[in-house]
Amino acid sequence: MRISYHVHSFLLSTFLAVAYFASCISVNAQEFPNKPITMVMPYAPGGPGDAITRLFAGSMQKILGQQINVDNTSGASGSIGTAKVARSKPDGYTLLMIHVSHATNMAMYKNLSYHPVDDFEPIGLATNGPMIIVARNDFPPKDINDFISYLKSHQSTISLANAGVGSASHLCGLMMMNVLGVKLNEIPYKGTGPALIDLMGGQVDLLCDQTSGTVPSIKAGKIKVYAAANKNRLPSLPNTPSITEAGIKGLEINISFGLYAPKGTPKSVMEKLTSALQQSVADPEVRKRLDSMGISAVSVEQATPSYLRAHLKNEIETLNVLLIKADIQAN
Ligand code: MLT
Repeated sequence: MRISYHVHSFLLSTFLAVAYFASCISVNAQEFPNKPITMVMPYAPGGPGDAITRLFAGSMQKILGQQINVDNTSGASGSIGTAKVARSKPDGYTLLMIHVSHATNMAMYKNLSYHPVDDFEPIGLATNGPMIIVARNDFPPKDINDFISYLKSHQSTISLANAGVGSASHLCGLMMMNVLGVKLNEIPYKGTGPALIDLMGGQVDLLCDQTSGTVPSIKAGKIKVYAAANKNRLPSLPNTPSITEAGIKGLEINISFGLYAPKGTPKSVMEKLTSALQQSVADPEVRKRLDSMGISAVSVEQATPSYLRAHLKNEIETLNVLLIKADIQAN
């Protein structure tokens, strides 16, 4: 069968065009990174997520050889910043550092513009950390036992800050109200960084936050701590009782942060990002800084796509049951 000259040249030019674009993608992926990277932290500056993101951005940029800029696009419990990453170009230059709200927002927001699993490539888990119950300095109860009875007798007058429905501080506050059988007045913020400022100023009474955002303020005497929402006492706060020690069960919560890229990011780029994250979690300097915040880096084996994928699946399955039981919906 003779192929006409025109068909032949069309097929050849199409083949060359596809080969050229394929080679461009692979060359770009091979050159990655050859410009600054944006790491979105979808909560406000000054909070625990911001502290962790800046630490990893600083470490990973040295390893990758390109600047990593932190972008605090916040609001709607992290879903605005997360949506921004979901619709960004899948080239490795826009990343997302996020925690439990990547799982809970699916149950919280009916009209979420992204799917936490289908629209993202997991790079790896980064940190684990406990939560603590803190208050403005002049909050009356003198210790955790006094705190528990005070909440029960004054619940309608007490304000409890959080970072929006589905955030870590919201989950911890929800669990605290459930186990103590109280209903406090919840005040949402764009992150626990701004909430902490109001707590120090006395504009809000309580906050259940991650240690990475609050231990420095406790040690500086700017806020008071009642208990660790943890089975055991925390090395960073040895004189603070655990909630379990105070006889309260069901208020032990651990918050992990993971790093994601948009779906479709080239495999070779993902491998470079995962390798940089693994080098960061293994870096003694990073581990020392995290330790000073009362949290820990994960192991290199946990800083992998498969581990983060399984972690997210587990959070989606377990936490949404809790939120649905509590009949919580953001919109
Ligand atoms: C933050 O970084 O502001 C917190 O992670 C928000 C939260 O409580 O989840």
